[in-house]
Amino acid sequence: MDKIRVQGGKPLSGVVQVSGSKNAALPILCSSLLVHGESTFRNVPDLRDIGTTAKLLRHMGLIVTVAPPIVTIESSNVSSHEAPYDLVRQMRASVLVLGPLLARLGRARVSLPGGCAIGARPVDQHLKGLEAMGAVIDLDHGYINAHVPGGRLKGADIHFDMVTVTGTENLMCAAALAKGRTTLRNAAREPEVEELGRVLNKMGASVEGAGTDTIVIEGRADLHAVDHAIIADRIEAGTYMVAAAATGGNVLVEGVTLEHLTAVARKMRQAGVIVEREGRGVRVVGKPPFTPTDITTAPHPDFPTDMQAQFMVLMCAADGQSTVTEMIFENRFMHVSELNRMGAHIEVDGRTAKVHGPAKLEGASVMATDLRASASLVIAGLMAEGITEVLRVYHIDRGYEHIERKLAGLGATIERVPDHD
Ligand code: EPZ
Repeated sequence: MDKIRVQGGKPLSGVVQVSGSKNAALPILCSSLLVHGESTFRNVPDLRDIGTTAKLLRHMGLIVTVAPPIVTIESSNVSSHEAPYDLVRQMRASVLVLGPLLARLGRARVSLPGGCAIGARPVDQHLKGLEAMGAVIDLDHGYINAHVPGGRLKGADIHFDMVTVTGTENLMCAAALAKGRTTLRNAAREPEVEELGRVLNKMGASVEGAGTDTIVIEGRADLHAVDHAIIADRIEAGTYMVAAAATGGNVLVEGVTLEHLTAVARKMRQAGVIVEREGRGVRVVGKPPFTPTDITTAPHPDFPTDMQAQFMVLMCAADGQSTVTEMIFENRFMHVSELNRMGAHIEVDGRTAKVHGPAKLEGASVMATDLRASASLVIAGLMAEGITEVLRVYHIDRGYEHIERKLAGLGATIERVPDHD
């Protein structure tokens, strides 16, 4: 397992290019199960999760070629309807094959994703929606066994009990080939959901309202292969924006769509960071200490949970107390104990963390846990005095393409070293 070693204290400067969106690419690659023929996807990030998805789709008989940033998928032949545990446990987003498999084959056997570091993360809403569309589902030995009597899903009017991103995406795919109309109410409004809607329509589907809380899909008998370039990763972009500000730097984050980050930009400006559109990106200038600023995570377009840890680190450099409230996942404060070991002063009380600033962070060896917590520890290392080593970097490699190269390109003293622990 590798670790990342960073020497802190240097303001970042220069230009960083944002890669394609992981959370748009995953459902889009899985949607290729809906079509016959060879699809080409461009601007696909070079990430572990992309590799895992390719393995999963190959297991089902698809011919997948990964040559970052291009992925081609020949999906005329689907020879298996099963997503095995040893693949699903590596990436819970594998559950995104469930809807497409049921739509294409009328049956699916997908390992229950189980929980992960940040929470239990059930998939009850996915299953409830598919049952409303005519699927018969039972759970046994940790697997979701589903089949569609009569072979084809039928359109349904589905109201999600809570906003679920992959739940919305799974049902959009299922509905694309169902018989009749499906309406998804209280649907997730994330840009990645909207992007999936674009791709499905390119495939010949009829999806209206993706990106709003009500999505209407008219099912089609069949869909065709596509050639599509995936949107930029707004969370990767937001992470570099915070890193630039937190180090007192001046950086152009290129390729990001600021409209996809309005809540993050608003809160950063409230904290006193300069965030301005410039050319094809966003100019970020930070001058610590910042103004203490409170955030509460919520579904898009409000503050994204995937930016919570990063913003918390920024608030360590604010002059006063900020509160960070995590309303999406029940256990997404694992970065707090590691940050406190670096000299932060953060108190957790249930879903709220109180960040007392300004804190003088000191380099330390810290352990990565979940993807975004790991990124926040790297940012803390960039701010800290001395050397920080972030262990178990594979968490970061799931969602950040060549993070040490991109940060070194902004002037950071950072390297990846093998870790023999
Ligand atoms: C997606 O996860 C993202 N992953 C997550 O990003 C992101 O944090 C999350 O949405 C919230 O924005 C991908 O898109 C691949 P949810 P997802 O279903 O779809 C509960 C990252 O860092 N829930 O929107 O799994 C659930 O427990 C990852 O890139 C149910 O109770 O999240 C959670 O509390 C981490 N039952 C809340 O809803 C369900 O059937 C939101 O979950 C589904 C969800």
